[in-house]
Amino acid sequence: MIISASTDYRAAAQRRLPPFLFHYIDGGAYAEYTLKRNVDDLASIALRQRVLRNMSELSLETQLFGETLAMPVALAPVGLTGMYARRGEVQAAKAAADKGIPFTLSTVSVCPIEEVAPAISRPMWFQLYVLKDRGFMKNALERAKAAGVTTLVFTVDMPTPGARYRDAHSGMSGANAAMRRMLQAFTHPAWALDVGLLGKPHDLGNISAYRGHPTGLADYIGWLGANFDPSISWKDLEWIREFWDGPMVIKGILDPDDARDAIRFGADGIVVSNHGGRQLDGVLSSARALPAIADAVKGDLKILADSGIRSGLDVVRMIALGADTVMLGRAFIYALAAAGGAGVSNLLSLIEKEMRVAMVLTGAKSIAEISAESLVREL
Ligand SMILES: Cc1cc2nc3c(=O)[nH]c(=O)nc-3n(C[C@H](O)[C@H](O)[C@H](O)COP(=O)(O)O)c2cc1C
Repeated sequence: MIISASTDYRAAAQRRLPPFLFHYIDGGAYAEYTLKRNVDDLASIALRQRVLRNMSELSLETQLFGETLAMPVALAPVGLTGMYARRGEVQAAKAAADKGIPFTLSTVSVCPIEEVAPAISRPMWFQLYVLKDRGFMKNALERAKAAGVTTLVFTVDMPTPGARYRDAHSGMSGANAAMRRMLQAFTHPAWALDVGLLGKPHDLGNISAYRGHPTGLADYIGWLGANFDPSISWKDLEWIREFWDGPMVIKGILDPDDARDAIRFGADGIVVSNHGGRQLDGVLSSARALPAIADAVKGDLKILADSGIRSGLDVVRMIALGADTVMLGRAFIYALAAAGGAGVSNLLSLIEKEMRVAMVLTGAKSIAEISAESLVREL
């Protein structure tokens, strides 16, 4: 029985997954202070209860980049999703589409663009990293366009990967990693059968398709390390604009000045994000960074926000702080790992119900009515 999505699905995911995968999802950079603050800062924000306002008519719908979203929620790009459940990207994308919200395919997904896009009932979003191999980036943009991708999410907070010490402890990387992963798979037979055996191929689908040969999990860490590009600058945005004329969202903004630059360089939206605490430990939580960014750019481009959102109440809090829409990361991944696409569907239903309760009891009849007035001002 699921009581709280954030805790119960996380616990179920931990039981089902080999430890190297659970800790890859669950962990953050260095001492994981920012990871913790993302959740704690958000949860500590007090909603302002209002009563007796006839809340019988409620709408959660919102418009974003010409699309109608059933609620202001999208699934964030998460690498290796096909390792957490069998062909996990397809399962999660279907669940999102059936609920009327966007799914974002990661550059480093297991299932390639061409496998996911035709399997779902609404257009998909695609996330691109800046990689040294610009040929790959151009190829990925062309393939995304051909597959009907509507919105490009360009992630800019990974010019170099943050150190995730848990990965070395868990067997994701480090000494004897392949052997340790194999042993862990043997002790998690449900996962080993469902994903390890029946979920093949375990490629990085988008990259294999470009390189013309399989790129397996063993290559993943090395490939990422070798291909992230610290020379990335705003000029790369101009380069991408040559190949992408649809909506473009810059993911990984934490500072109002960078948000203003995103407008200057023609972005249609930003994601206020610290990558779920997986990059620079010690930076502000998204909840604390968001209000100043909203003050600087609200209305000039769309503001999405992620990192630490675990419930429908958190969605309402982020919108009250200035976001137009939020992205779910670990929240949907725990559910997917625990119970596949049905888990993601159930999670999204829970998020919707929690949002409804929060809206009724803060007196917001629509997403547009959720504002700073929905929160108690700090004393
Ligand atoms: C396991 C994992 C893999 C991720 N992979 C990517 C990725 O490939 N591309 C990307 O832009 N962000 C990636 N992210 C970051 C998410 O898109 C999102 O910003 C983050 O999960 C939000 O924080 P939360 O999980 O605390 O909600 C990943 C996050 C996790 C947990």
